[in-house]
Amino acid sequence: PKTDSLEVTFVKADGQKVKARCKEGDSLLDVVVNNELDISGYGACEGTLTCSTCHVILSKEDYDRIPSKPLDDENDMLDLAFELTETSRLGCQIVMTKELNGLEVRLPSSVNDARG
Ligand code: FES
Repeated sequence: PKTDSLEVTFVKADGQKVKARCKEGDSLLDVVVNNELDISGYGACEGTLTCSTCHVILSKEDYDRIPSKPLDDENDMLDLAFELTETSRLGCQIVMTKELNGLEVRLPSSVNDARG
């Protein structure tokens, strides 16, 4: 079996850092779910691109090196995200690779569930 060889750090709005292990091919939503991370409201639509609660904020450098660029559906949903920034992505659309090992993402201070 594949081991969870990669690491991701989620930085909560209050500055608390939460480290999690994952494997290649896991989305950041998978990482949160598989590690049972306690992030309020995160991933409400289970990766179906209808909620924007999986919003994460990247450094410019990391934003530029994520291999999967945002598609229209993601951008439409991001427009509804709380505290949208220039380097925001949806965590369910970021897939972990070896190159992204050690990735650190910030979480906004609240979530906006676009499903109303
Ligand atoms: Fe809902 Fe990502 S989990 S858009």
